[in-house]
Amino acid sequence: MIGCALKPYHTLKSLAIKLISGLSMSSCSIILSANVPHPKRSLMILVTGGAGYIGSHMARSLVQNGFDAVILDNLSHGSKEIANQTGAHLVVGDIRDPRALTSLFSHYPIEAVIHFAAAIEVGESVLDPLKYWDNNLTGTLRLLETMRAFGIRNLIFSSTAAVYAPKKRGLLVEENPLQPDNPYGDTKLSAERLIEAASKGFGLTAITFRYFNAAAMEPSFGLISHAIPRSHLIPAVMDAITGRILELKVFGNDYATPDGTGIRDYIHVMDLVDAHLIGLKRLIKGNLSGVFNLGTGKGHSVLDVIGMAEKVTGKKVPWRIVERRPGDVPMLVAGSRKARETLPWIPVRSSLERILRDTATGWGL
Ligand SMILES: NC(=O)c1ccc[n+]([C@@H]2O[C@H](COP(=O)([O-])OP(=O)(O)OC[C@H]3O[C@@H](n4cnc5c(N)ncnc54)[C@H](O)[C@@H]3O)[C@@H](O)[C@H]2O)c1
Repeated sequence: MIGCALKPYHTLKSLAIKLISGLSMSSCSIILSANVPHPKRSLMILVTGGAGYIGSHMARSLVQNGFDAVILDNLSHGSKEIANQTGAHLVVGDIRDPRALTSLFSHYPIEAVIHFAAAIEVGESVLDPLKYWDNNLTGTLRLLETMRAFGIRNLIFSSTAAVYAPKKRGLLVEENPLQPDNPYGDTKLSAERLIEAASKGFGLTAITFRYFNAAAMEPSFGLISHAIPRSHLIPAVMDAITGRILELKVFGNDYATPDGTGIRDYIHVMDLVDAHLIGLKRLIKGNLSGVFNLGTGKGHSVLDVIGMAEKVTGKKVPWRIVERRPGDVPMLVAGSRKARETLPWIPVRSSLERILRDTATGWGL
């Protein structure tokens, strides 16, 4: 850990901000686990939430692709061990803490921010909405304030299919009505609107990616591959196979879908990472911004996923139908033509079979 007498990069800027904000840099509470001095490679990218599932895959891929990366994560969900395997610098701190942000931006020559940090559980957001508004909206606001103060204009934001009004059939495209069905989606949509306002207000250039269901892992990433939240369907299926959990709970079989279980569009995490790498390069060149769905256009029911897991592992999945979860919707499937044509980007690893195979490999099955 080092203190917050941060010098190396934005010294003058940070002093200016210190004067503006009246912050005492010496009372800063972040922990920097990276070595100092830092700059060694070309562009420095801040990955908020980079100790979590998608963020750690992203951070590792950034490093592999010749970027320098620094992770800001409060470790509420992710872990230090995972972050340390990415090859990125790790700063333990909270996106809602202006002092932590100011220290971080003073210390690292950040060119762009990829903003993953958020609370992400739909069901929990129904039970504890204030946590979600605080973390996801206040956190994004604080981040944008600091970016403005430091003159950092490039942002990629992780949004979600949960911002759309639920639709009984057909693909969700970017022009579909926006009407979240749960507080998680509400906070993400509000953060999108904040980013849009900041783009008009102070010249931020932003790409918002609306992910559908992130799935699988890159097995060669070792520990990183275990950052996937266990609450997600596919990890829970694997846990049911290995006996880590007694049985898989299938939340509702009375939805208006062919087999009655919820239908989702599963997108391989490394396909998501690819889209971010393409987007980042174009963002930095100044020739791309906007909102893009990232999905496959194909939906799979819970029972489809169970069937495919049994096929690729050759093992039975014990499962049982239970009550619907609050906030869940019958179907979310992406129309992602815009991303395919504009970025351009093609999800090449996102067949259900490949997703289940990579996850099973990550689970040692
Ligand atoms: N996983 C999906 O299927 C999915 C789908 C759509 C959108 N998203 C979005 O992608 C992003 C990443 O999701 P994930 O699945 O990797 O989740 P995750 O929980 O694995 O990662 C989130 C990370 O953010 C960190 N974090 C949370 N609040 C923080 C705060 N206030 N300050 C600093 N760090 C904080 C957590 O510790 C965690 O490491 C989220 O913004 C989520 O809304 C995910």
